[in-house]
Amino acid sequence: MRSVPTTSLDLTAPDVVADPYPYFAAERAEHPVAWHEPSGTYLTFDHASVSTVQRDRRLGRLWRDREPLDHLEPFNLLHRTQMMENEPPEHTRLRRPVASAFNRGHIERLRPRVREIAATLLADVDPASFDVVAQYAEPLPVLVIADLLGVPRSYAPSLRDWSQAIVHMYEVSPSPAVVDAAVSAAVDFAGLVRELVGERRTAPADDLISDLAATELTEDEIVAAVVLLLNAGHEASVNVFGNGLVAMLRRGLRPGPDVPACVEEMLRFDSALQLFERTATAPVEVGGVVVEEGQKIAALLGAANRDPAVFERPDEFDVARESNNHLAFGVGVHFCLGAPLARMELAESVAALWSTYPDLALAAEPESRGTFVLRGFRRVPVGGSHA
Ligand code: HEM
Repeated sequence: MRSVPTTSLDLTAPDVVADPYPYFAAERAEHPVAWHEPSGTYLTFDHASVSTVQRDRRLGRLWRDREPLDHLEPFNLLHRTQMMENEPPEHTRLRRPVASAFNRGHIERLRPRVREIAATLLADVDPASFDVVAQYAEPLPVLVIADLLGVPRSYAPSLRDWSQAIVHMYEVSPSPAVVDAAVSAAVDFAGLVRELVGERRTAPADDLISDLAATELTEDEIVAAVVLLLNAGHEASVNVFGNGLVAMLRRGLRPGPDVPACVEEMLRFDSALQLFERTATAPVEVGGVVVEEGQKIAALLGAANRDPAVFERPDEFDVARESNNHLAFGVGVHFCLGAPLARMELAESVAALWSTYPDLALAAEPESRGTFVLRGFRRVPVGGSHA
């Protein structure tokens, strides 16, 4: 019997968090998939295995309530009833009504609004020195998704805070303080959304909450869907923007005429979401190992996106890369519902930033968030002069 390859890669080590890609390359050279004892999970390092993990229906997202149950109930409730934590047929039932509101036409109608928000935010900064994350990349998708759902703009700062508190739970080994903050954010967040859903039931408006309130979903399911959209609708976009911008500025690059191609490269080059876990419901072979029923396997999206078997010069940022089959939005039944919105927002915000400040440059060293799963920068000080 062949022995299973193992890895002791420390996903929380500062060097790995700072730049995981050389570590992924070294692992990939040894094995596409390896058992990771510290997390009790298989890790996948190449494009083919990551893709299999996300596509194979026997590898599912199976939600397990976090414990202690009493304390964690507000957090668990928001996850147990949302599409992302369920598999078909439940996943299909929860995704379909939300997906219908996200068709392309609807997203295209938002484009002028995104342009307007980008211009307003850029008009408010001091060009000599500003934090492009806090003053631009963060508020833009929060305002867009709040508008789309019909959440009053005055709540934008709270949405950002609640979302941050909740997503910290997705990191490896969250501390008790992180757990408490996530629970309290879940209570406040769900409270606001429940109130808005109640209002829209009596007085529907032209927004996504009203559309969802009119579906067959239960109130808990609607609340979970809205919170998911608000969180997923900005967390990753902020970090894709920050990671891509820093990569370009450090290399003296700027977007070429094909801005959407540059956005795809931002998504590929330094993935904002690095790890998604699945559990086997039957034995499945992935990259030469057999994942037994009940065992877990994690797709490392960032590792897949630097696989030399799929990408030429994978460690080079190519603003005009032609063939870019990255997995930053996932693949399979959980493929990102917001991908068309994220792509449009990123293309508009990247284009607006560079056309306003063609000589944009880093003004100081960017500050990392210091987390592995959600990879990004907390602060990116930049400066430039008006075109
Ligand atoms: C650049 C920004 C974004 C990135 C990189 C991203 C990435 C992803 C990934 C990798 C998944 C799959 C998770 C898995 O396989 O387990 C996902 C799912 C999802 N994303 Fe995004 N996302 C982004 C923006 C958005 C936006 C703007 C929205 C909504 C407005 C959104 C809503 C969702 C939803 C609802 C799901 C769950 C889909 C399902 O389970 O069927 N995302 N996203």
